[in-house]
Amino acid sequence: MTSAISLFSPVEADLCLLADNLKNLVGARHPILRAAAEHLFGAGGKRIRPAIVLLLSRATMPEDAITPRHRRLAEITEMIHTASLVHDDVVDESAVRRGAPTVHSRFGNRIAVLAGDFLFAQSSWYLANLDNLAVVKLLSQVIMDLAEGEIRQGLNQFDTGLSIAAYLEKSYYKTASLIANSSKAAGVLSGVSEELVEQLYGYGRNLGLAFQIVDDILDFTGSTEVLGKPACSDLRSGNLTAPVLYALEEKPYLAKVIEREFAEDDDLDQAVALIHDSNGIERSRQLASTHVQKAIKCLGDLPPSESRQALFDLSQYVLRRLH
Ligand code: IPE
Ligand code: IPE
Ligand code: MG
Ligand code: MG
Repeated sequence: MTSAISLFSPVEADLCLLADNLKNLVGARHPILRAAAEHLFGAGGKRIRPAIVLLLSRATMPEDAITPRHRRLAEITEMIHTASLVHDDVVDESAVRRGAPTVHSRFGNRIAVLAGDFLFAQSSWYLANLDNLAVVKLLSQVIMDLAEGEIRQGLNQFDTGLSIAAYLEKSYYKTASLIANSSKAAGVLSGVSEELVEQLYGYGRNLGLAFQIVDDILDFTGSTEVLGKPACSDLRSGNLTAPVLYALEEKPYLAKVIEREFAEDDDLDQAVALIHDSNGIERSRQLASTHVQKAIKCLGDLPPSESRQALFDLSQYVLRRLH
C-alpha cells in the first residue's frame, strides 16, 4: 500500500511546518487541556485534509507562493477534524485512535468533551483572525454540519430501513462537509473564479464521501493494528453503513438480528458473516469509486501542475486503501 505521505511530496515541507505549528497553536493554559491536545497532535494521523488544502492552495496559485493565510486554513482544518474525532470517540466509546489511547480513555469523558470544545473554539478564533468573512462562513457551517451528522447517525442506530441516500447525506455532514468547504475556502483565499470555487467544493464533497465509504468498508475488512483504531465497531453499535445497507437487500435474516440489537450470543458474528457473504462490500467499493471519479472530474479546470497531479493521485489512494 502506498502511504498517503509519499503522495504529498509537493507540500511535504508545508506539512512539517504545520505539524510544528499545530502543537504551538493549541495555547491551552490549563495543563490537562494542553496534555490532551499534545497527546492528540503528537500521535499524528494521516493529515489528508490539510494536505488537500495545501495542494489546492498551490494548484490555484501556480505563479505565486502560498500565503500565511493558506497555511493557517490548513491548520484550522486539521484542528476542526481533530476536535471532531475527540467527540466522535466519546460518542462511539472507542478506546484507540491513531494507535494511541483516546483522550476520553486517558483523561475521562468530561475532559474529552471539554478538550473537543476547546479545540473547536480555538479553531473558530483562528478562523475569525483570517479576516475573511466568506471563509469564516464556510468553516463555521462545517462545525454545525459535524454535529448534525453525529446526531443523525445517533438517531438512526439499528434502523434497517435506512436508505443509501440518507446514509450519504449523513456522511456528507459528518465527513465530506469539512473537506468540501475547506477546499472551497482554499480557492476563495487564492481569489479564483466563482466557477472554479464550485469545482473545488465538488472535489472535496465527492472525495469526502468516498473517504467515508472506504472507512466504513475498512471497519469490516481492516485490522485494528493497521487502522490504529478499533475494527468491526460500527455494526456492533448499530451504525449501519454502506456494506450493511447493501447486504440487507440480499439477506433478510440480517435485518432480524440487527433489529433485535444482537441480543443472542452469536448474532453479531452471524451478521458479519452474512455481510461478507453478500455483495455489500463490493457494491460499496463501487459506490466509493463513482465518487472518486466525480472528484477527479472536478480537477479538470485547474491548470496542470505537480500539485494537481498529487490531487489526482490522492483521489486514487482513497480506493487503494482497500488493498
Ligand atoms: C477519520 O479520519 C474519520 C473519518 C472521517 C473516517 P482519518 O482517517 O483522516 O483520521 P486521521 O486524521 O488519519 O487519524
Ligand atoms: C467519522 O466517522 C468521524 C467524524 C467525521 C467525526 P467514524 O466514526 O467512522 O470515524 P472513525 O471510524 O471513528 O475514525
Ligand atoms: Mg468513530
Ligand atoms: Mg469509521
